[in-house]
Amino acid sequence: MSLKDKIGAVRSNFRTAIESFPTDSIKLDELRIRFLGRKGEIAQLFNTMGSIPADERANAGKLLNELKIDLQSAFDSAIKNVDQNQRKKESDSVDYSLPGIELPIGSIHPIEQTLTEVKDIFKSIGFSIAYGPEIDDEYHNFEALNIPKHHPARDMQDTFFVEDNAVLRTHTSNVQIHLMENEEPPIRYIVPGRVYRNEAISYKSFCLFHQVEGLYVDKNVSFSELKGTLDYFARRMFGEDVKIRFRPSYFPFTEPSAEVDIWNSERNQWMEILGCGIVNPKVFKNVGYDSTIWHGYAFGMGIERIAMLKYKIQDIRHFYRNDIRFLEQF
Ligand code: PHE
Repeated sequence: MSLKDKIGAVRSNFRTAIESFPTDSIKLDELRIRFLGRKGEIAQLFNTMGSIPADERANAGKLLNELKIDLQSAFDSAIKNVDQNQRKKESDSVDYSLPGIELPIGSIHPIEQTLTEVKDIFKSIGFSIAYGPEIDDEYHNFEALNIPKHHPARDMQDTFFVEDNAVLRTHTSNVQIHLMENEEPPIRYIVPGRVYRNEAISYKSFCLFHQVEGLYVDKNVSFSELKGTLDYFARRMFGEDVKIRFRPSYFPFTEPSAEVDIWNSERNQWMEILGCGIVNPKVFKNVGYDSTIWHGYAFGMGIERIAMLKYKIQDIRHFYRNDIRFLEQF
C-alpha cells in the first residue's frame, strides 16, 4: 500500500471513530493516543519515512504533516464540543425559578393565643402587665392574702411544697402582694402566669394551669366598676351574645367576693372562669396601704377554662398532651 493510501486509511478510520462517540471525553482521549500519541498511527507512518525513496520523501513529509494537523484540529474541536455540552448540562440542572421545599410551620399553642387575647383586651383599657415568682414563700401565697394557717387552701392536699416555706404558687394572687409592696397606689395591673394545685384531675382541673390576675387600686373603685370591666372583657372575648353570670362567693382576700360563670353550650351548663372581689382592707394593711384612702378590686381568671369555652375544647388535659393532631387545629 502506498503512503498516500495509508494516509487516506488513517484519515477515514479517525473520522469514523470520532463520529461514533462525539461527546465522550474519555473515548476521545483514547482516540488521541491511538492516532496522535507518541507511538500512535501517525508517528508510525513517520517512522516509515526512511524506506521512502529520497525524491518522494519531501512530498510524503508534507502529506503526513497535513494529516497530523487535520487530525489534531478535528480532535480539538471535538473536545471543545464536549466541554460546552458539559457546561450546558450543568446549568440546565439548576432551575432557579423552582419553588423551595415547603417545611411544616408550627402553630401557636391555644393557651398562648388565649393569653395574648386576654392581655390585648386589658392593655386596651389601661392595664399594664406584670409578672411574679412561681415559687414563693407562704407569706406571699397565703398569709398576706389573709389566708390563715388553718384555711383548707393551705392544706397539703392542694399545695405543692418545694421545701419548708417554699411553695409552687397556687394562684397568681401572690403577685398582688409583691406589686403593692413595691409600688405606691394608684396601680392597675394584670399578671399572667402558671399556677399549680395538687388536686383531683378531671376534664376541667389539672395540676398545672394558667391564670391572669387583675389588680386595680385607686381612690374611687367600686364593685360596679369591677362588674362592668369583667362584663366588657367577656363580651370582647366571647362575643356580644355571651351568657355571663356573677355569683356571690368567698375569698379571704376580697370582700365582697364573686365568681363569674360563662354558659358552656357544648355541655349545657355554667363554667366558672374567674374569682373576683373588692380588695379586703386586711390585705391593704399587710402591704402598708391606707385603706381609708385606697380601694381596689382584684380578679383571677383561669385561662384554660376560657380557652375551652372559646375553642370548644372538651377536656383541659388536651392542652398538656402535645398531641400534634390537637395542636395543628390552632
Ligand atoms: N386567687 C383566686 C383563685 O385562684 C381568684 C381570685 C383572685 C379571687 C383575685 C379574687 C380576687 O381562685
